Amino acid sequence: MKKTMRLDKLLAHAGYGSRSDIKKLIKAKAVAVDGKPAKDSGMQIDPDRHRITVDGEAVMYKEFVYVMLNKPPGYVSATEDVRERTVIDLVADEYGHYELFPVGRLDKDTEGLLLLTNDGKLAHQLLSPKKHVPKTYYAEVEGQVGESDAQAFAQGVTLDDGYVTLPAKLRILHSGSPETEELSRIELTIVEGKFHQVKRMFQAVGKRVVYLKRLSMGTLALDERLGPGEYRELTAEELERLIKGNEA
Ligand code: URA
Repeated sequence: MKKTMRLDKLLAHAGYGSRSDIKKLIKAKAVAVDGKPAKDSGMQIDPDRHRITVDGEAVMYKEFVYVMLNKPPGYVSATEDVRERTVIDLVADEYGHYELFPVGRLDKDTEGLLLLTNDGKLAHQLLSPKKHVPKTYYAEVEGQVGESDAQAFAQGVTLDDGYVTLPAKLRILHSGSPETEELSRIELTIVEGKFHQVKRMFQAVGKRVVYLKRLSMGTLALDERLGPGEYRELTAEELERLIKGNEA
């Protein structure tokens, strides 16, 4: 892995503005490397070895950032969109300079766990179809979800495009009733991530999902203390488990 990087890039990552802002800081002798004023914004820095300060304050540099978001409905899982608000808009004030992206997609109306990172390698591993990373969803479904649905999902169901899903685990929390319009409440764990997969799996058994929330992805579980739209960085333990769980 490349160890060194340009001083202006490091400072931009750490939130000190654009390259031209940083040039101005350097010109004003506000930036020091190992105690000496920096002269060149293109100077190569090893973040592990050099001590950088701006106006005397140590710069905390992180190459990668991992943010757990409780996605609210009404936001698209993209970095940019001309019409819609994106999940990145929710964290932009704090993490705008990190170039985060969502690891996978939740539909605009789906809520819950979404990992945002700038670590392309981890994202790739979590999304690789070969890895079969389990994802658990909570859903509310019209009609009576029963054991026959659990069996169908365990065997695999055929989606509208002919694709047969891999075995999935259905847990029925409450079986609703079409007569009283009471919704069924379930948890479903799938190990793949086809477009609208949970909704289409229920469609395959003649039922409609009216509410969907992701609870977990791999070893990472949504922190239920996060309200919709709230986020926090992963703890060191969460990150370590997520990486380890995925190496196997
Ligand atoms: N399955 C869906 O149908 N929608 C999502 O957002 C995620 C999984």
